[in-house]
Amino acid sequence: MTTSSDATAGYLRAQARGWRCDPAPAEATSFHRSLPGYRPTALVESPSLASELGLARLFVKDESSRLGLPAFKALGASWAIHQALTARVLGRDATGPGSLDGLRELASRAPGVRLVAATDGNHGRAVARFARLLDLPSEIYLPRVVAELDRSAVDVIRAEGARVVTVPQDYDATVATAARAAARAPEAELVQDTAWAGYETVPATIVDGYSTLFREIDEQLRSAAGPSADAVVVPVGVGSLAQAAITHYRGSEAPAGTALVSVEPDSAACALASLRLGARTTIPTAATTMAGLNCGTPSSLAWPYLRAGLDCAVSVSDAEAATAGRDLRAQGIESGPCGAASLAGLRAVIAGPDRLGARLGLGTDSVVVLLSTEGASPARCADQKS
Ligand SMILES: Cc1ncc(COP(=O)(O)O)c(C=O)c1O
Repeated sequence: MTTSSDATAGYLRAQARGWRCDPAPAEATSFHRSLPGYRPTALVESPSLASELGLARLFVKDESSRLGLPAFKALGASWAIHQALTARVLGRDATGPGSLDGLRELASRAPGVRLVAATDGNHGRAVARFARLLDLPSEIYLPRVVAELDRSAVDVIRAEGARVVTVPQDYDATVATAARAAARAPEAELVQDTAWAGYETVPATIVDGYSTLFREIDEQLRSAAGPSADAVVVPVGVGSLAQAAITHYRGSEAPAGTALVSVEPDSAACALASLRLGARTTIPTAATTMAGLNCGTPSSLAWPYLRAGLDCAVSVSDAEAATAGRDLRAQGIESGPCGAASLAGLRAVIAGPDRLGARLGLGTDSVVVLLSTEGASPARCADQKS
């Protein structure tokens, strides 16, 4: 059920909390824990934002420094590369190495292999980083609009040793270009964080990799003497991170009761458009400061999860994300526009005209977690190489 046909209105699905799916496998988290520099990112409590929003407690999962990079994306890229190299060298059902050194040794047994990805910035940088750590070449495709808006997006990927190809089209077309380039070369391994018919194995491992973030939140909430979250707010591009959230909170062993809320830019709200339509759809997109969320089509793997397991979807403007970024900074949290979108989205849910927050049951007893998925400055972690 959508709350209204107004283009700016949100979407609510009352039955989402009762939906169940298989939980994520645990192996990705064990591998992440073995990586040099791994430590859980901070879960920061903000009493003043909780009070502004009329909540009991508000936490922000701060992904501004994850495995030496300023976004959560390394969790998916590292595990997907681990699984892809394992399948390539040892066979599809083999168990891969339990450390980065072991993975580097495995990569040396795949001569000529090159990692390829399309990106709005963060994912490609993470693929390029792990390629460098494994002594593999990488080729990263970037929509020209991203490069024009933020020249440093190209520079930081090049600094990892990647060949960067800019594509004079949008994100969806850039993904298609990277996929075609990889399909022409057997030594190319496409490590893409979105799925489509016939390309699902690698994106599934990326989603599995994101599970570490949610396991950390569980442990951190437990040790903050807090109960489990009543709602988690997730910025959405193609929906793979939201798929991981839904898998975690709707996994057959998870306690029922956590509402999941997606937030997208007004100019690229492909999940919201698909949810309203009841079918996965492609929309035209326009430039947004929330570059990582500038996607026109939900992942084919994510879509059934979004449709069944997401409670609420909203979109926000660049200006709302900018205000949220300033307000998070005042709390000592450095969030880029995609990361700050979570706070902007929660404000739209709680204070917007549709009263979505009340309809989700959020109020003075509720505990909410915002995912701040990137730091404020893409270059900040550039020399913090792990
Ligand atoms: C910082 C940031 N947040 C959120 C997302 C959204 O993730 P997904 O595309 O899996 O929905 C991205 C995607 O690139 C991102 O870079």
